[in-house]
Amino acid sequence: MKQFVMATLAVLLSFVACAQNKVNLPAPRKDAEMTLYQALQQRASVRDFKTVEVSDQTLSDLLWAAVGVNRNDGRRTAPTAMNTQEIRLYVCRTDGAYEYIAQDNSLVKLSEKDLRKSVAAGQGNIGDAPLFLLIVADLNKYSRPGPSTATFGAVDCGYVSQNICLACQALGLATVPRAMMDQETLKKELGLKEDMELLINHPVGYKK
Ligand SMILES: Cc1cc2nc3c(=O)[nH]c(=O)nc-3n(C[C@H](O)[C@H](O)[C@H](O)COP(=O)(O)O)c2cc1C
Repeated sequence: MKQFVMATLAVLLSFVACAQNKVNLPAPRKDAEMTLYQALQQRASVRDFKTVEVSDQTLSDLLWAAVGVNRNDGRRTAPTAMNTQEIRLYVCRTDGAYEYIAQDNSLVKLSEKDLRKSVAAGQGNIGDAPLFLLIVADLNKYSRPGPSTATFGAVDCGYVSQNICLACQALGLATVPRAMMDQETLKKELGLKEDMELLINHPVGYKK
């Protein structure tokens, strides 16, 4: 009896721990007043940000545009080679680092640390941005990783990066795609395995 109670308690505690590590985002608003052509006209890299936070609603709208599910068969807003869906998107903000789970529009916490300085890597005032999106190509999703899959990963990352640029413009946010970052620290903190390529980051916030 005692063993049964202990086992039940352990299961309950692991549920509570999982729940604490998960943020259910508000449903994304899949619309914006700005047209695609207005966003294309105005898109420009911004490197100076206000410290004003981005709401979870706006973050949800942005993440959906970046790589969200847009069809009943689970396909995404960004194309991927052979529909491999190898792109993973991470969010680093003041309260920790998360992975975006497109299937249920949630964030799963991976680190309690504020990793924004490691992403900014000392570049100007970029570390003032309230959050960063990190794009990772998980080449393990290809049955045989190799030079061509690395190319596919980089190309697929580019689609997501451009979705982020245009959605930021449409949502009144500012961003710049960046290759510069402290790869070693970020890979360790996010628990990235071999063949998970950290390719581009986007500071996101409001233009100063
Ligand atoms: C692959 C790639 C890597 C980049 N890396 C950085 C970077 O590390 N830091 C930075 O400030 N800008 C970076 N940029 C932004 C470019 O400098 C910027 O897009 C370019 O100057 C053109 O300006 P625009 O985006 O306003 O048109 C990068 C852009 C790309 C596409």
